Amino acid sequence: MRPTHCSLRSLLAVLLIACLSLPALADEGMWIPMLLQRNEADMQAKGMHISAKDIYDINNACLKDAVILFNQGCTGEFVSPEGLFLTNHHCGYYYITSHSTVAHDYLTRGFWAMTREEELPCPGLTATRLVRMEDVTAQVLEGVSADASELERSQLIDEHIAYIISQATQGTHYRAIVKPFYYGNQYFMYVNEVFTDVRLVGAPPSNIGKFGGDTDNWMWPRHTGDFSMFRVYVNREGKPAPYSTDNVPYQPKKHLEISLKGVQEGDFTFVFGYPGTTHRYVTSDAVDLAANVQNPICIDLRTIRLKHYNNAMNRNAALRLKYASRVASIANGWKKWQGESQGIARLKGVEQKQEQERLFQRWADNNNEYRDVLTKLHNAYTQLRPLQERAVYFSEGVHASDFMGTAAKLFQLATTPDSLAQRHADETSYAYEPTDVDSAIFIETMRYVMKHNPQWGFAVAHPTEAQATEELQRIYHSSRILNKASLDSVKQHVAQCDQWLNDPAVDLYSSALDYAFTADQQHERRRLNVDINRLMRTYVRGLMAMYPDSNFFPDANLTLRVAYGHVSGFHPRDGVYYKPYSTLDGILQKENPDIYDYVVEPKLKSLHYRRDYAPYADENGAMPVGFIATNHTTGGNSGSPVLDADGRLIGINFDRCWEGTMSDLLFDPDYCRNICLDIRYCLFIIDKFADAKHLVDEMTLIQ
Ligand code: ARG
Ligand code: GLU
Repeated sequence: MRPTHCSLRSLLAVLLIACLSLPALADEGMWIPMLLQRNEADMQAKGMHISAKDIYDINNACLKDAVILFNQGCTGEFVSPEGLFLTNHHCGYYYITSHSTVAHDYLTRGFWAMTREEELPCPGLTATRLVRMEDVTAQVLEGVSADASELERSQLIDEHIAYIISQATQGTHYRAIVKPFYYGNQYFMYVNEVFTDVRLVGAPPSNIGKFGGDTDNWMWPRHTGDFSMFRVYVNREGKPAPYSTDNVPYQPKKHLEISLKGVQEGDFTFVFGYPGTTHRYVTSDAVDLAANVQNPICIDLRTIRLKHYNNAMNRNAALRLKYASRVASIANGWKKWQGESQGIARLKGVEQKQEQERLFQRWADNNNEYRDVLTKLHNAYTQLRPLQERAVYFSEGVHASDFMGTAAKLFQLATTPDSLAQRHADETSYAYEPTDVDSAIFIETMRYVMKHNPQWGFAVAHPTEAQATEELQRIYHSSRILNKASLDSVKQHVAQCDQWLNDPAVDLYSSALDYAFTADQQHERRRLNVDINRLMRTYVRGLMAMYPDSNFFPDANLTLRVAYGHVSGFHPRDGVYYKPYSTLDGILQKENPDIYDYVVEPKLKSLHYRRDYAPYADENGAMPVGFIATNHTTGGNSGSPVLDADGRLIGINFDRCWEGTMSDLLFDPDYCRNICLDIRYCLFIIDKFADAKHLVDEMTLIQ
């Protein structure tokens, strides 16, 4: 792509620079525990006292036995021999809210089980422990020829994977999963033990666990006590089992020791957990698409939704509970994408990638295997871009309201074959609760979509803002979705469900679908994505061949990883330096009794005034709350243990600094910081604030 001419000398010079520049990965990387030997020397040079085997070892209990995947999106760590584990407050959020009512509002007031009997079952919640992992590339790719189509390839691969999994789990209670790495250049199998009786043990009140709320989210300096506690129960044989009063606390092979020493700037630290998704190796076109097309659309549409939800929540306590979890997740992406797009612009991320591509192209010009790969990727992205743009308007915009969400379900019911429809009618809830908030969101988000998609038939028919609003209002008020009786009858009248097709809301949905998701467009999008994945497989293999001495970490894919770095402040902008720690003093500085997220509990204040912190205070007598470090993390790392040079727990990972959220695409050591809760604040809250010292007594504290 975009080849340039140059003499051999300058070519060599460029190659030399390239060879020097890529391996300098600083603290970037999410490494595979089984292959950590490759990083061991580097980790020890940076200050680690333990060995790679202490972290991952299939023959002996090791740190990995203390780390769990919490559901399918967070991490947790065992801190007691009786199955007690820590994760984030925002990870336990759904379970905390689902046990809450206005009368027993654990979300607002906190919850602490003072006895085992008081621990609350959480149906559906799983905790997954990795038993072992294995490189299964050879078996998975056996007989897959280089010129096989992607379809043939994936069929053969799926067959192999099914066989490998059945062999690995036969006669055990384990579950296995095989995942592709480097776009399918490599495959690893994970054999897991999945616990299904997990109970809520403790959560601080919101104004501690979510202190600063969405205002402080993704920001440093931070003062959020973002933790909650759960316990894993097993049957009397010590095996995973569904909830039962006969179950007993699980005894992990390993639980983490907790260090009370605290952290100093420059200290070695590593994070051990389950990062979800990164896109480290994508090309400039992909970065441009994310930063300049997808993110801005999603941000705008979420701004609209958040405005309406927040207004309602500020007015009414019941609505605050009702929308809390949903708004937290809408706001989370909204803010992250802003940081990401700004970070990419600041770093000139697209240009940086283009430069990398120029170097690659020069190297690949003499190589049949890699010569065309970037041109082909560029062509595929050029075709994908407009399709993707429409898809984003559709998924973020048309689906923004519950009203359209219900219309979507009814549309599906009305158009899918009988058997499927029957199943949907049994399983899916069609209840729609008309609210002012939802109708306002419906009208405003649809207007936005119309404005930006003037070719859409519905937009053509209602070209002015006033016409659009009037028509959307008419649709809202005349739809049978608002009528509970007709929704109740959905189940009884599956046979006549195609009648829903003439409902104005379902009709509107179907018109949007026809515009953004025709069968042709769907097919094209799928084809392009399959193509891009295949081309990326070649490109990444090429990069590895181009830089044979570099250790390339695979993109995150919700498998267990180790990220390491050091405690470090940073300069977010000119003239400003952020220290790497925060303390309880900062909570009092932020206090604002009029703003829900900045209310400080009287008890916390009185502990602060009396400086009643022992034995958790730092060496200056202050109460530490958070710290930041250079560990490369992403969504899914929430709740991950942050460990010191001796492998002891010093913090709980819960966020990244806003200025560095582009690290899913581009890591910049000057800006990328993960945010950790200092374990001493967590213990202080449990012990001194909640008077739940019995929980701290279960743990192993090292002075
Ligand atoms: N930003 C953190 C993460 O990505 C925390 C999110 C929850 N907190 C919130 N205020 N919405 O998960
Ligand atoms: N809070 C994020 C999570 O839920 C972690 C922050 C990040 O994306 O790094 O995993």
